[in-house]
Amino acid sequence: MKRFGILVIAMVMLAACQQKSSTSGNSEMDGFVSDLMAKMTLQEKIGQLNLVTPGGGIPTGSVVSTDLEAKIKAGNVGGIFGISGPERLRETQRMAVDESRLGIPMIFGFDVIHGYKTIFPIPLGLSCSWDIKRLEEIAHIAAVESTADGVFWTFSPMVDISRDPRWGRISESSGEDPYLGSAIAQALVKGYQGDDLGNNKTMMACVKHFALYGAAEAGRDYNSVDMSHLRMFNDYFPPYKAAIEAGVESVMSSFNDVDGVPSSANKWLLTDVLRDMWGFNGFVVSDYTSVNEMVAHGLGDLQEVSALALKAGLDMDMVGEGFLTTLEKSLKEGKIVEADINRACRRVLEAKYKLGLFDDPYRYFDDSRPASDILTKENRTAAREMAARTMVLLKNEKQVLPLKKSGTVALIGPLADSRNNMLGTWAPTGDPGFAVTVLEGFQNVLGDQAKILYAKGANICNDPEFAAKINVFGPKIEIDERSPESMLQEAVSVSKRADVVVAVVGEASEMTGESASRSDISLPWSQKKLLQELAKTGKPLVVVNMSGRPMTIAGEVELADAFLQMWHAGVETGNALADVLFGDYNPSGKLTATFPRNVGQVPIYYSIRNTGRPQGGDTFQKFRSNYLDVQNTPLFPFGYGLSYTSFKYKELAIDKSTISNMDELSISVSVTNTGDFDGEEVVQLYVRDMVASITPPLRLLKGFQKIFIPKGDTKEVVFKIRAADLAFYHPDMKFYAEPGEFTVFVGGDSNASLSQTFSLVN
Ligand code: BGC
Repeated sequence: MKRFGILVIAMVMLAACQQKSSTSGNSEMDGFVSDLMAKMTLQEKIGQLNLVTPGGGIPTGSVVSTDLEAKIKAGNVGGIFGISGPERLRETQRMAVDESRLGIPMIFGFDVIHGYKTIFPIPLGLSCSWDIKRLEEIAHIAAVESTADGVFWTFSPMVDISRDPRWGRISESSGEDPYLGSAIAQALVKGYQGDDLGNNKTMMACVKHFALYGAAEAGRDYNSVDMSHLRMFNDYFPPYKAAIEAGVESVMSSFNDVDGVPSSANKWLLTDVLRDMWGFNGFVVSDYTSVNEMVAHGLGDLQEVSALALKAGLDMDMVGEGFLTTLEKSLKEGKIVEADINRACRRVLEAKYKLGLFDDPYRYFDDSRPASDILTKENRTAAREMAARTMVLLKNEKQVLPLKKSGTVALIGPLADSRNNMLGTWAPTGDPGFAVTVLEGFQNVLGDQAKILYAKGANICNDPEFAAKINVFGPKIEIDERSPESMLQEAVSVSKRADVVVAVVGEASEMTGESASRSDISLPWSQKKLLQELAKTGKPLVVVNMSGRPMTIAGEVELADAFLQMWHAGVETGNALADVLFGDYNPSGKLTATFPRNVGQVPIYYSIRNTGRPQGGDTFQKFRSNYLDVQNTPLFPFGYGLSYTSFKYKELAIDKSTISNMDELSISVSVTNTGDFDGEEVVQLYVRDMVASITPPLRLLKGFQKIFIPKGDTKEVVFKIRAADLAFYHPDMKFYAEPGEFTVFVGGDSNASLSQTFSLVN
């Protein structure tokens, strides 16, 4: 049936904000920047568009810039990333301020992805907390620590939606869902930037990687992306847009192409969508040499691609110096116009103005701050509490967990005492030396109440060639001198002497992250074997999986009595894990990325649409949309996670059966803690549009609340839904809800079964 659309919220129109190339609405800033630009030579303006790194951090491509000092003094550098420390940065800034002709200060950035020195769990883990308030707080902590060390621009939040656990960078994302991803994007932007960018304890955020980087074909990093505009706007764009709405001041373009044009030169993406539709008026920086990489993409030589990027709306060129070395020539040859350079230069200068650098270029360099603001006791406590909240309990048979703080515990596994792997990927500012291992965490929490027996049991993997690929920036996989057999024997004999076995297995931190895609996302064989041998001992077996991605772990879950998905949990890993396993914290994490049964199910996510031949259940049916060799359902669905207690949902009620465009629907449910522990539950609300003009997803997350319920207590949870919440993008890119019937589901995961229906009318 053809239905009429209701225009519910502002349609995505050009009106929102025209390209702010010359006025920002802040007349003082405009005047200041105009006066400054009037004094600048063309080359000085181009210099502002140049972002360099002296190396020494983690170069993720080739380091192009040489002779940095001379370049700074010549006014050829707009910003630097990858260096820190007030003293070093003050001296570097001084070169620009005192020794360049106009003394324009530089911006200093770093990849502060999940904490500065107080490293929190990897972002995928953080998202599993569903704790928006704490997420904002930890971004604030990261900003305070970074600015204490002189760094005031972070290349975070990374908000790429990913539904493919083969892709290593799923670890840096918030998982598969645009609604949750948007809420997290906003919290992080607010946490970093605060209300006042000029405050020297807040930092400028940079939302990345715009756009669609998480949809790389076959999960292979940097690979091509190709998807419909409907999917882009409905599923992949919302978190970037949410970050813009939260006021993020900078955006990073992605490596991949979108509609056949690499993002860094994609005018539709960087100007039409980002600025004209969404009203972004900060600046856009490329990803690491992504301008130069367009040569390999096949778009032309360096001069050509640099001109394309500038014209498309890219303002700052990271590392590659294509802008620096070719734009003047392109101007002379008429490939670009001076207004293109002026526009980009203005945007970079505006950011410097907002950061307060023209008032005081040294405002972030206070030698007393590192000692008082970095890795403080309070920050470590926040990291410990947060890490505990990111862990997801996937199985707990016969209430093996929580463990008693008595008797003998065998702690086994290659990640049980592996300091180098605790921080997780993309923690270049962190120091593994400060990380608490699992063994130390157990010792801290147990003291002398229980006996701990430790054995490594297995290498993370036994293959030296694979280990070499992981160990590029330091030892993460250390292959023991002992034979695998003797390590196994030791683990088995230790386990036999214990009351319970805790096995800590998983991935080395660099088995995920950038350039760490895997086609096989199971545990390496050495660790599978270890778990099999431990299970044979007949002792209660608790498996803790420390990974940066959802893994195919069906067999290992089967072997275990209890299974906890922990992620790489940061500087307080060991303490937080001990808090959870020994019952000082009742786990409350819920998955934000679906766990497949096997890699052949990938891409896999909960918000699927029905085919014309939907499969009715989990049994194979000929000529239906299913597989011969695996069910359609995942191993663990989105939103899933157990607690030591149990929650019962009842009395789902709606206050009206029909709503109009202007109404608000109230949905209430009562949740009772029916178990023996106090606990937190993430109450989730999903909505299904029963009939629509484009195939509707079977359900979409539209609300969640994380609540604490003491044992025996009941809490009523109320959600509000308006027509605007039911809107989606249509083929003509208009955003509105269609009248008709909707079903709401409320429960503790994406399979929530309590439901009610209502109608939306014109
Ligand atoms: C990554 C970005 C990162 C940049 C700077 C690139 O390789 O894709 O996420 O911010 O390097 O370190």
